[in-house]
Amino acid sequence: MKKVKPEPFKIKMVEPISKISRKKREEALKRAGYNLFSLNSDEVYIDLLTDSGTGAMSDNQWAGIMSGDESYAGSNNFHNLSNTVKEVFDYDYTIPTHQGRGAEQVLFPILLDEGQFAISNMHFDTTKAHVELSKGRAVNLVIDESRDTSKYHPFKGNLDLEKTKEFINEKGADNIGFIIITITCNSAGGQPVSMKNIKETSKLAKKYGIKVFMDAARFAENAYFIKQREDGYENKTIKEIVKEMFSYAEGFTMSAKKDGIVNMGGIIGIKNNKELYTKARSRVVPLEGFPTYGGLSGRDMEALARGLKEGIDFDYLDYRIGQVKYLGEKLKEAEIPIQEPVGGHAVFVNAGKMLPHIPYDQFPAQVLGNALYLESGVRGVEVGSLLLGRDPETKENLKSPLELLRLTIPRRVYTNNHMDVVAKGLIKVKDKVDQLKGLEFTYEPEVLRHFTARLKPIKE
Ligand code: F0G
Repeated sequence: MKKVKPEPFKIKMVEPISKISRKKREEALKRAGYNLFSLNSDEVYIDLLTDSGTGAMSDNQWAGIMSGDESYAGSNNFHNLSNTVKEVFDYDYTIPTHQGRGAEQVLFPILLDEGQFAISNMHFDTTKAHVELSKGRAVNLVIDESRDTSKYHPFKGNLDLEKTKEFINEKGADNIGFIIITITCNSAGGQPVSMKNIKETSKLAKKYGIKVFMDAARFAENAYFIKQREDGYENKTIKEIVKEMFSYAEGFTMSAKKDGIVNMGGIIGIKNNKELYTKARSRVVPLEGFPTYGGLSGRDMEALARGLKEGIDFDYLDYRIGQVKYLGEKLKEAEIPIQEPVGGHAVFVNAGKMLPHIPYDQFPAQVLGNALYLESGVRGVEVGSLLLGRDPETKENLKSPLELLRLTIPRRVYTNNHMDVVAKGLIKVKDKVDQLKGLEFTYEPEVLRHFTARLKPIKE
């Protein structure tokens, strides 16, 4: 029997879920325009759309909710949050925001002049959008290994340092606004970045006078992989690893809805640059709120302060990432192609490989996601050409290097029995993939089309 980490918690409260009939799922999908984003949550049995804000808070976090200090200025919970940021990251300045993109909209315009580049291993969608809204340009320079799903590399989220150096030399250091390292690299499959890579990125950036930031949404999961996979870190605590990772950066933006294990929240963290902090603090007021709440209520900040500490607990991370791996292994055993090694927050299924008969502009990963929903009521999310959109100039559909179906596991929510249902469903779909048909638009929004597009299966 496989060794599986048991949950390091017991369950105090439950939320019933149930599966509607296949006929009802068919009706729901049709009504939703073959877009899983448009389903109602009670039409979904196991919801793997995202790990963002979908985690279960602990009794300790819920107790924190009751000690919310809702003062407009100087809330106790803000002090608790900024003390926690100091303790965990060793950063002097904390600005709460309503979520990750709130942090991005406050910080990026300070860091970017018109036309300047932001370099990342891979920008998340909203991160790219906020670079562009700040009139900057987003460039992704992740290592090539991340695009080969079957090839093992312990740190597929690494920034390609050679390419970065060449890019800086070509464009000139003055034209680079900042480097932002996404940990873990969500778009590459929740893949980690090594400490060595973070350290060398920081060294390279320093040489050119460029600032380094972290997109810290899944910082704790990244630290876990460093402990498991990088020489010299096996005996360090997650907390020590986190401190070292962040010592190489100037600041971070964080969606706290992931490793902060809260349903809503974000943070701008700044190591010690008072001038940068002062600028960000003035911008947060009109955009998010007074600097000691930044769009969050006192109780939210308290839950987050507590969540940040729970999120770096080794036993929790071992169970959490073990569960994602458990699902990945089940799929691998059934010869379903996935991004390997399995990442921190999700299993990414290579739909391009599984459905080679469906061209990229008929969205194979969306087709696979819909088939999985019909089969077992499980909702995943497409990360491929539907998400990528069109070339702004030629209006042609862009071809994503990978067509992935992301099965994203919420934190502390589902058990491995649920993972078995997911695997079984996908295995059943695998046996009939050649019957699946591509999709075409009946309505295509101009921006961020994947959220609200309506589609229909193509008839031959
Ligand atoms: N950065 C990364 C790496 C993210 O994954 C996300 C959100 C954000 C920034 C934005 O944060 O949603 O709090 O405003 N990712 C979610 C996902 C939505 O499903 O992967 P936000």
